[in-house]
Amino acid sequence: MSVVIDGKALAASFRADIAAQVTRLGERYGKTPCLSVIIVGDNPASRSYVRGKIKACREAGIESRLIEFPDTISEEELLSSIARLNADADVDAVLVQLPLPSQIDSNRVIDAISPEKDVDGFHPTNVAALFLGRPCMAPCTPKGIIAMIDSTGSVIDGARATVVGRSNIVGKPVAKLLQDRGATVTVAHSHTRNLAAVCRDADILVVATGHAGLVTADMVKNGAVVIDVGINRTAEGKLVGDVDFAGVSPKAGFISPVPGGVGPMTITMLLANTLECFKNRNEKQNK
Ligand code: GUN
Repeated sequence: MSVVIDGKALAASFRADIAAQVTRLGERYGKTPCLSVIIVGDNPASRSYVRGKIKACREAGIESRLIEFPDTISEEELLSSIARLNADADVDAVLVQLPLPSQIDSNRVIDAISPEKDVDGFHPTNVAALFLGRPCMAPCTPKGIIAMIDSTGSVIDGARATVVGRSNIVGKPVAKLLQDRGATVTVAHSHTRNLAAVCRDADILVVATGHAGLVTADMVKNGAVVIDVGINRTAEGKLVGDVDFAGVSPKAGFISPVPGGVGPMTITMLLANTLECFKNRNEKQNK
C-alpha cells in the first residue's frame, strides 16, 4: 500500500515559513508583498481558484488586489489594465487567471505582463530563461510537484521520470525541472504509442492530461512516485484526478490525492513566487 502525499499538510508547512518571511521582510522594508489578480468573466472553476489564491494570500500576510472584468471586456482594455499594474510601484506581482474569453488573445496578454511581475512564470522571457537554465520565475504547479516529490525522500537524480501531458503550464516545465534535477525524462502525450509501457518504466510518474482515470494500476511500476495533476469533475459532481486512485494506490510507493494533492501546493508556490517578486524588486532598488 502506498503512502499518500498530503498536499494540504505539506502546503501548511511551506506557508508557515512564507508567512514568517513576510513578517521579517515587512520589518526590513516597511511594506507588504502585493499580488494583483485579474479575473475576466464568471467561469465557476476560475472563480473558485481565484478565491483560493486570495484567501491563501490573506493567511500568509500577503496583500492581494482582485480586479474583476466582465467577459465582454476588449483586449485593449485588458492590456491597459495590465500596463497600469506594471507601472504601479505598490504592486509586486501580476496574475491573469486563464482561460480568457475567445475575443482575447491570451498570448498578447501574457506577453504584456512585465517579466519581473510575472508570478505565474508564463512570460516568454521567463520560459526562455527556465529552458536556458538561467535565473527565472518558474511556474507554480511544476514547482509544487518537485516539492511534493522531494517530500517523499525519493531521489530524483538518476531516476526515470515520465510526464504524461505536454502543456505549457505543467507538462513542458515540469519535465525541464525534473531534467535539471538529474532525472531521465520522457514526455508522453495523446499520440504516444504504448503509453502503458512508457508509464510503467517510470520511477516518477507525473500525470497532467485532464482525462479522469487515464492511468490505471497496470500502467504503474511497483513503488513508483505518482503525482496526479488532473482536476476533473464526474457526472455526480465529484472531483477526481487523472489517476485511478483506488486501483493505483496498492501498487505505488507514494501517490498524491485529488483533491488535497497538487492543488494546495500550486497555490503555495504562488505565494512563494509573490515573495520572490517582492524580494527581487526591493533588493534591486537597494543596490
Ligand atoms: N488557469 C489554470 N491554471 C492556472 C495558473 O496556474 N495560472 C493562471 N494564471 N491561470 C490558470
